[in-house]
Amino acid sequence: MTLLMRTITLVTQKGGAGKTTLATSLAIAAQEAGETVAAFDLDPQGSLVEWGRMRRKAEPTAVQHPHLPVVERFPPDKLGQMKPMLGSLKAKGITLAILDTAGADNPTTHLAIDVSTFCLVPIRPTRLDLLAVRPTVQAIMRSGRPFAFVLNQCSTIPRNGRANDTAAGLASIGFMAEPLVMQRNDYQDGFAAGQGVTEYAPDGKAADEMRQLWQWVATQSENKP
Ligand SMILES: Nc1ncnc2c1ncn2[C@@H]1O[C@H](COP(=O)(O)OP(=O)(O)O)[C@@H](O)[C@H]1O
Ligand SMILES: [Mg+2]
Repeated sequence: MTLLMRTITLVTQKGGAGKTTLATSLAIAAQEAGETVAAFDLDPQGSLVEWGRMRRKAEPTAVQHPHLPVVERFPPDKLGQMKPMLGSLKAKGITLAILDTAGADNPTTHLAIDVSTFCLVPIRPTRLDLLAVRPTVQAIMRSGRPFAFVLNQCSTIPRNGRANDTAAGLASIGFMAEPLVMQRNDYQDGFAAGQGVTEYAPDGKAADEMRQLWQWVATQSENKP
């Protein structure tokens, strides 16, 4: 069996939806599940690269693999060659590329969609976010790439219907990834420590969510070259 290299793109025009947070914790969850991961920052704000820097600075005991995954700013002079550049990673043993995009509708984001095996669209469970997601969905649909929404930052308050309402609103335009991702301190504190939540609090609920989400994404993107 030839090993595929998958490219998962985190994309939505809306800032603050959780693209970078999910990119980091999914990268680690995937790595723990056996993938060799390279994560690329396509956002000039550079939050993902900053996380990588914090990671390398962290005590080796606190981070299981301080030098992995590869976390880099995507070389700005290679944007036009994104596809071959990603293709060349396979020869280096990378099995999963994660692209973290800017919260903007720009040519770089469109390229990142076009080269993806699968797009993940994080969205918070609010009406505003639901309205704002349309242009992103249209861009992905034009590219013909498969995608799913990830409901993120859902309230943990019992019987809060917002997540389900938003999911129902989204179900008519695309798939919903599983599980729902809740609002949890582990995501913020893990990021600040340069870790994925599965490293920061391996027995926590956030860690469970990220392991399950990676399994879902892995299954969905398996046969989509
Ligand atoms: N599931 C979550 N639980 C708690 N805080 C979250 C969660 N997801 C994201 N955040 C926080 O929301 C803010 C925006 O997240 P970020 O990943 O930077 O979004 P984006 O990259 O889409 O702009 C950050 O402060 C981040 O810590
Ligand atoms: Mg970001």
